[in-house]
Amino acid sequence: MLNIAVLVSGGGTNLQAIIDSVENQTLKDVTIKCVISNKSDAYALERARKHGIASSCISPKDYGSKEEYGKYLAEYLKEQGVELVVLAGFLVVLPPEFIREFSGRIINIHPSLIPSFCGDGFYGLKVHEAALARGVKVTGATVHYVDEGTDTGPIILQKAVEVEEGDTPEILQKRVMEQAEWVILPKAIEMIAEDRRKI
Ligand code: GRF
Repeated sequence: MLNIAVLVSGGGTNLQAIIDSVENQTLKDVTIKCVISNKSDAYALERARKHGIASSCISPKDYGSKEEYGKYLAEYLKEQGVELVVLAGFLVVLPPEFIREFSGRIINIHPSLIPSFCGDGFYGLKVHEAALARGVKVTGATVHYVDEGTDTGPIILQKAVEVEEGDTPEILQKRVMEQAEWVILPKAIEMIAEDRRKI
């Protein structure tokens, strides 16, 4: 069994894709131990509650420093027996101490084909606005391991999505989520759980 935590900040559709995959058994041997949001009003927390998953708001605002926050978060996740941290639309930059503590055990979903439209400032709709402004014909999503840079860690999975005539950032964001993000995030977790089974 692979124990995971999902860290969120918003609507939680990627979290929902993981929950659905666990419940319908396409994602086997995975337990969602907890869902953590930095925002108390994130709808993702509600999704977790509806499925009986422990959920809480742990915000950097309540800690004296980023370091303290990272330390608390790491301790909390270790107490829960979390082995893999999944960032699913989590908008807090995690401190290096936390990343070192969970080295090789943090993954993130990014809504573009890295190395395009990624790094500092590229999040949410901004990613899709930039893709449309550049006029790319294909975009997509990437699941990667998290290191101390922004979107710089080793790539696990990518999936391409076509840009269509008349796309707005909102329309493109929705297509990237439906066709790529909700597919490759559960798939990447499955691959990691599968590798563990082999070990
Ligand atoms: C997704 O587009 C994800 O790629 C990005 O933030 C968004 C989160 O959406 N990092 P949701 O909260 O999973 O609906």
